[in-house]
Amino acid sequence: MTARPQHFGWFLARGFGPQGWGYPSLDWDYDWTRPDIYQEAARTLEQAGFDLVIIEDAPSLGSPSTIDLRVRHAFGGPKHDPLLLAPYLFQATEHLGVVPTVNPAAYLPYTAARQFATLQHLSGHRLGLNVVTDTGSARHFSDAPQLGHDEAYDRAEEWLAGIRDLWRSWDEGALVADRGSDVYADGTKMRAVRHRGDRFSFDGPLNALPFTDGEPAIVSPGGSGRGLGFAGANSDVQLALAPLHEASVRAYRTRIHDAARAAGRRPEDIKILFAIQPVIVSSAEEADRIVSASLDPDDAALLQIARKQSSDLETDLTALDPDQPLDLSVFGAHVSQGSIQRLLGDRGEKAPLRAHLAALARAGRISDRTGFVGTAEEFADLVEELGEWGNDGVLLWGDFHPVTLHRTLDELVPVLRRRGILRREYAPGGLHANLRAF
Ligand SMILES: Cc1cc2nc3c(=O)[nH]c(=O)nc-3n(C[C@H](O)[C@H](O)[C@H](O)COP(=O)(O)O)c2cc1C
Repeated sequence: MTARPQHFGWFLARGFGPQGWGYPSLDWDYDWTRPDIYQEAARTLEQAGFDLVIIEDAPSLGSPSTIDLRVRHAFGGPKHDPLLLAPYLFQATEHLGVVPTVNPAAYLPYTAARQFATLQHLSGHRLGLNVVTDTGSARHFSDAPQLGHDEAYDRAEEWLAGIRDLWRSWDEGALVADRGSDVYADGTKMRAVRHRGDRFSFDGPLNALPFTDGEPAIVSPGGSGRGLGFAGANSDVQLALAPLHEASVRAYRTRIHDAARAAGRRPEDIKILFAIQPVIVSSAEEADRIVSASLDPDDAALLQIARKQSSDLETDLTALDPDQPLDLSVFGAHVSQGSIQRLLGDRGEKAPLRAHLAALARAGRISDRTGFVGTAEEFADLVEELGEWGNDGVLLWGDFHPVTLHRTLDELVPVLRRRGILRREYAPGGLHANLRAF
């Protein structure tokens, strides 16, 4: 018996930047600023039958006092603009969806609608947009006060609704393109739009053709109640992060589906893809070896984790004594409480910094559901189990280096195909057609 097919994507989690920096095994002779390595990776994902790649982004290097922490080991920047990388990936592939991250703070709706429409046509309807609501980069775009969490979602909803109005500003029959009558388009069938909202004011119609195979797919990652509500009401794909046990997966899905119904959509209109970073190895013995080595990380491994945490938390953990309890006053008010809590786990404030870093280094086995190290068959078991709970698919995440992709996919893809979980062929019609195929 074969299992239910699911959708697969890749989340390029360190964005369009010097990904792989700091990892000696990824020190190959490539140039991250050139398209070649991304094109090679995109072709690999397409040959594997993946639906899409999502490219993380942060337009900002952070606050003035912490820029150095973000860039020193290249965890927080530099990052080039993934929207401009997208055409190169489209050119290298025929079916793969490409989903750059976009922040409504950075694009006026008319400009966004026109640029995204252009890419949707250029790509054969394969564009997606990962709509994020981060407000940390606000100061680069205006001197207006930074929005709060929910206000940023309000703005994103107004922005997206405005963009969709522009995309729909050509009514049925507006595009004529009839050589016999020498008429290209019928201006009387175009709508003026006239958006006057809380955050944006602009007029249409849009100076770009309407779509033949759907609008660019909307992807969202936010995990708060407001984030899940946004996904249910607006998104075609949710980048989901949650514990992978049955109750949590089902609850996460129910919240999004309820929000979809409340917005007049069908639950099947949104594909919920859980983000997982597996370490796929060739044998159970190798998996056991990696897990036991992770229980006793060396100083180099702890330093690498401290560097990444320093960038994410915009606080220099490498300057602290690792054998002393972590003094929480080192974190400024700008640091997210959720991120601090993730570092502390259930160890509390009295534990030394070393214990927190070691906990982040700790790996677990897929087979007993304590972690994500295992063989291709063990990972396929997990994905199959997720499918039994109704799951739509999985987002593997990591960098775009050939070593990472091949280590993750070479053994896994044939196993998933044999079990019927991973597609063997693409549907004609672009990203929406592939998302709707099952
Ligand atoms: C898995 C995940 C991926 C995200 N990716 C990005 C990103 O690439 N760029 C960005 O600026 N914000 C990103 N965000 C931030 C979200 O857009 C949002 O601003 C933040 O998570 C707060 O919303 P929430 O409380 O609903 O999760 C991401 C969030 C999550 C959970």
